[in-house]
Amino acid sequence: MMSPNLAPIPELFVSHESAQKLKIEASELPSWDLTPRQVCDLELLMNGGFSPLKGFLSQADYDSVVERMRLADGTLWPMPITLDVSSGFAEGVEPGQDIALRDQEGVILATMTVTDKWTPDKAREAARVFGADDIAHPAVNYLHNSAGTVYLGGPVTGIQPPVHYDFKARRDTPNELRALFRKLGWRRVVAFQTRNPLHRAHQELTFRAAREAQANLLIHPVVGMTKPGDVDHFTRVRCYEAVLDKYPAATTTMSLLNLAMRMAGPREAVWHGIIRRNHGCTHMIVGRDHAGPGKNSAGDDFYGPYDAQDLFREHQAEIGLEMVDFKQMVYVQDRAQYEAADEIEEGATVLNISGTELRRRLREGLEIPDWFSFPEVVGELRRRYPPRSQQGFTVFFTGLSGSGKSTIANALMIKLMEMGDRPVTLLDGDVVRKNLSSELGFSKEHRDLNIRRIGFVASEITKNGGIAICAPIAPYAATRRAVREEIEQYGAFVEVHVATSLEECERRDRKGLYRLAREGKIKEFTGISDPYDEPEAPELRVNTEGVEVDNCAHQVLLKLESMGLIAG
Ligand code: PPS
Repeated sequence: MMSPNLAPIPELFVSHESAQKLKIEASELPSWDLTPRQVCDLELLMNGGFSPLKGFLSQADYDSVVERMRLADGTLWPMPITLDVSSGFAEGVEPGQDIALRDQEGVILATMTVTDKWTPDKAREAARVFGADDIAHPAVNYLHNSAGTVYLGGPVTGIQPPVHYDFKARRDTPNELRALFRKLGWRRVVAFQTRNPLHRAHQELTFRAAREAQANLLIHPVVGMTKPGDVDHFTRVRCYEAVLDKYPAATTTMSLLNLAMRMAGPREAVWHGIIRRNHGCTHMIVGRDHAGPGKNSAGDDFYGPYDAQDLFREHQAEIGLEMVDFKQMVYVQDRAQYEAADEIEEGATVLNISGTELRRRLREGLEIPDWFSFPEVVGELRRRYPPRSQQGFTVFFTGLSGSGKSTIANALMIKLMEMGDRPVTLLDGDVVRKNLSSELGFSKEHRDLNIRRIGFVASEITKNGGIAICAPIAPYAATRRAVREEIEQYGAFVEVHVATSLEECERRDRKGLYRLAREGKIKEFTGISDPYDEPEAPELRVNTEGVEVDNCAHQVLLKLESMGLIAG
């Protein structure tokens, strides 16, 4: 009998001929343009990575998954895989109807027969699935601030997988990996899930785990969506390829997984286990704080460091894959080698460089020792993260109308241009509204769109090594946070709150708008008849009252210098 990890797994794709027919028929159907996260989910639904799911969850399955981590029929399934859509789209769709699912370029990937449509209780989903309704958790933030308000559920008919142009040879469906293991005669395979570059400690620990489980090793990094702020997958894959050469030949392989992680700790570990089982693995390494989301808004961890291991252990038989506990490997200086932390005698000199310390050294261009990582990996990271004083960044002023944002921003721009080491672009509120957002008004929806446009342009400038100075009102904290996350993928985001009080802005009333707002002639005026969320933790707060513009701009420069963004 074929061992369980080698038999093919069911996929949701139809035959080539049926797919051609379906593509034509689907042109009549209502079309949903999938979000990047939904594209990831759909790919794994269609290729069997999320087996036994046959589509996006129905309401009964969703309720049951949220409450008890099981589908309605009792099968273990920890993560709600839902098709969230806008209320506008949902209005035009009724259960019983088929819809077309398209990627962001409009290419059809699948159809779905809608069986359920409902408005989820997102606070309950957050509390049950992620442990707290706290937007410091990236998936809870996504749920409340990015996901649509209505969920659609139903079985999916796969037409074609999403196209990837990058690292094609390194991407494998569950059945392709199963076929590879069959061909190589790999009956025991231990998977290593990762969203970070691998250094020597990881190489040692994965190698040991494989030896312990008497298994071959699959490095299985996530290249779909990971935690905001992570190293981009292009850089990581180049790093992984360098590390792959360090394993004994023919023991190890690497494949890229287009998963959209949720950082759900314990539930996520169980989910990762099921996904790896589907990919033909028999074991998986589960570490300390597996898929951890970082700190909650009170500054505490969302989950205990071993909660993920405990939950995994409890459900191991049903997952159908064995856990290999992570052995923390540390470098013992006296013996110049890595050893398991729990096996080292007292008094031995142990060296370690934390993630934060590594980022600091990269940022400041400091030495990264050979015992810590491989030269090829360090080389890739240095290429991606030049010292901060050579990277792009964004200064994002926010404050009430007339607070002095534009004036300080202009002064700052001139000072930075005088230094001349990087191109500077000013995206001033009024100027943007003239050139980028001329059709927009001041409703919440329009303001958000305006800020997202500014954020998009600033992120492109930052990515390409320039300095973007933005100076809109940007009254909503959630939107500022979204812009921050987008930009921090590429460089620093320096939020400057121009904290001039409403009374002072109104007293100055340089454009005469406050008077008109008070008279009711301008509606939805920030501070008067529209909200302004004060930034809670901006990088800098400047008070303009009784202070010269030049001095305010200088305060920003000093901040940039203290952050290493401009040379001292
Ligand atoms: S937002 O909320 O960030 O999109 O606003 P922003 O693009 O920065 O535009 C603010 C400028 O538009 C003028 N203006 C108003 N501001 C606030 N509320 C209302 N209803 C409004 N109507 C017009 C005002 O001149 C703002 O300029 P600044 O430079 O902030 O004074």
